[in-house]
Amino acid sequence: MNSSYILGAGCYVPESVVTNDDLSRIVDTSDEWITTRTGIKERHLSQGEKTYEMGVKAVKRALENAKINPEDLDMIICATITPDEFMPATACRIQSDIGAKNAAAFDISAACSGLVFGITIASQFVKTGMYKNICVVGAETLSKVTNWEDRGTCVLFGDGAGAVIVGEKRDENSMEIIAESMISNGDKADILTLEAVPFGNMLKKRPDKMPDFYMAMDGQEVFKFAVKVITDQIKKVTEKANLKVEDISFIVPHQANVRIIETAAKMLSLPNEKFFVNLHKYGNTSSASVGIAFSELLESGKIKKGDNLVMTGFGGGMSAGAILLKA
Ligand code: ACO
Repeated sequence: MNSSYILGAGCYVPESVVTNDDLSRIVDTSDEWITTRTGIKERHLSQGEKTYEMGVKAVKRALENAKINPEDLDMIICATITPDEFMPATACRIQSDIGAKNAAAFDISAACSGLVFGITIASQFVKTGMYKNICVVGAETLSKVTNWEDRGTCVLFGDGAGAVIVGEKRDENSMEIIAESMISNGDKADILTLEAVPFGNMLKKRPDKMPDFYMAMDGQEVFKFAVKVITDQIKKVTEKANLKVEDISFIVPHQANVRIIETAAKMLSLPNEKFFVNLHKYGNTSSASVGIAFSELLESGKIKKGDNLVMTGFGGGMSAGAILLKA
């Protein structure tokens, strides 16, 4: 088996910023409630920019940072729960826009674990030697499936895209993927849902009233699930890599709620500072969040050669995963 690496990352969020105070003008909430319960201060919302268009911007930045040409991509995997269309895949729209004419392109649906699942899939293709350069992008316009009259959910989400390039080693900046883990628990699927088009055909009439295409969740159950799986997944990849959790320099978790992250840190006996957090600026952007956070961590210049990093995602499915990298 060959080794697989992350060669670069990039991200994009739409320009328009909506603050907690802005939300308090449309639902009964406050900056104080949102900040103390979630850590979120503001989020970026699309004003009509499509999921694939945001994906394209993140992918272009990731390609630039990895010094890879679009024609050199063998595959594009887009993780999204908010595609613009059922068909074609968002990844194919991205492929066409960037001119990656030699790539296979498809979408995956793994909610907030999407980017981590996508990187794990990509990594296997590189390890077997089938492909050399793969783009994995998480892109979401969650604002279009958010119920803006429900204060319990509308304060949580934002739009954006994050991308990474997975491939063979290129230079000293290539970060080796040392261990991967993925898990799903369909028995808990109902605690976090988003309806699709209702059934209907020539044999059975579609309901007259279309459902609301909104995300719905049992917040406290999601919270409990998240804390447990983050800690399990981090321990799992650390053990696979023959390391201890103390050996990890930075953890890039899915950015859902700062209290989830701090509780996981406590359970792992790790300082909060090891967890990279930027959810105060973007809210929860589902499959985009780990890519946006990872890009910002790379840009911050905080990572030193030899550092061990973990990316971890958790979300709808319910699903969770982690990847351990060596800088
Ligand atoms: N502003 C003011 N009050 C609110 C708001 C709001 N935005 N939302 C809910 N409340 C009220 C509720 O109505 C309730 O009032 P009541 O006591 O009079 O009935 C009270 O606040 C407490 O509500 P809870 O739902 O119990 O609040 P909780 O402390 O559980 O916090 C939250 C809710 C933030 C959603 C929390 O459960 C959570 O973070 N869960 C994790 C889920 C998550 O992050 N999901 C994101 C998507 S999933 C993913 O990415 C994995």
